[in-house]
Amino acid sequence: MKLTEQEQKQFKNWLAKVAGATDDVLAEVLPRDGTGLPEDRLWECMRYGVFSGGKRLRPALLHAAHHLCGGTSGLQAARASAAMEMIHVYSLIQDDLPCMDDDALRHGVATAHKKFDEATALMASDGLQASAFELLADKMTHEDADVRCELIKIYSSAMGALGMVAGQMVDMVWEWQKTKVGQTELARLSNLKTGALIHASVMGGAALARAKPDMRRALAAYAGGLGLAYQIHNDVLDEEGETEVTGKTKGKDAAAGKRTFVTVLGLAAAKKQALAEANAALKALEDFGDEADPLRWIVKFAVTREK
Ligand code: IPE
Ligand code: MG
Ligand code: MG
Repeated sequence: MKLTEQEQKQFKNWLAKVAGATDDVLAEVLPRDGTGLPEDRLWECMRYGVFSGGKRLRPALLHAAHHLCGGTSGLQAARASAAMEMIHVYSLIQDDLPCMDDDALRHGVATAHKKFDEATALMASDGLQASAFELLADKMTHEDADVRCELIKIYSSAMGALGMVAGQMVDMVWEWQKTKVGQTELARLSNLKTGALIHASVMGGAALARAKPDMRRALAAYAGGLGLAYQIHNDVLDEEGETEVTGKTKGKDAAAGKRTFVTVLGLAAAKKQALAEANAALKALEDFGDEADPLRWIVKFAVTREK
């Protein structure tokens, strides 16, 4: 499942390009601090959350799906990616709050509420969420208002009460009630809390390129496998990864009594399952040629990454 040396190089260059384009949009649209106004603190915290070391995996997925579906405007893909990244960062800032996972470290640096304070972190996450939709609704993101509305629908349904937020609730309720769960329940949790935004990133790229239904079906199957593979590997890293490498506190899930693929299935079975899901994602791309390579690199990266 590892990327070959050649693929590693190609992926690195390609990712630097699409992540760079996304970061340029983020730098441009996020409010600038340094004005001397009291809300500088809010803007500083929003930028801190966004620019403190994310992998830009969701932007990569969006760009890759957009490219596969024949999309040509790198700027449109970068704008839709920037909106997705803001939503992702908002979800992480809230995930780390003391009332949720209570984490002090993310990407090797202090979490937003540790660096600033809880109220500022909460408002910065709210601000990021709103800015994401402002960006999606703008004509520069796509000339066709129907496409813009479709993007807004894809993003909002993925992050809302039947998507990411629902997953976060399930995670918390299981932790509080010490619920016994099996693989099916874990997969459902993962599909909600992580899979939904991964799916929306892929389908956002497809929608932006006005992809045909058969293309969207293949991409949805890809996103399903990738989302699970990604979260299972995340659980493996919580157990196995070293804090200096992952940038997160090691063993946090087990210590908190979390139900994860590792704490429920055991490490070996979890690793096996991650590979099975990654293979399912690759299989969904079997009808495509080189044009799907970035999507293939992302799968291999997702299950071998060290952070
Ligand atoms: C985070 O899940 C999911 C969302 C922010 C929606 P986890 O709590 O399992 O992930 P980490 O370990 O904090 O990144
Ligand atoms: Mg969590
Ligand atoms: Mg967490």
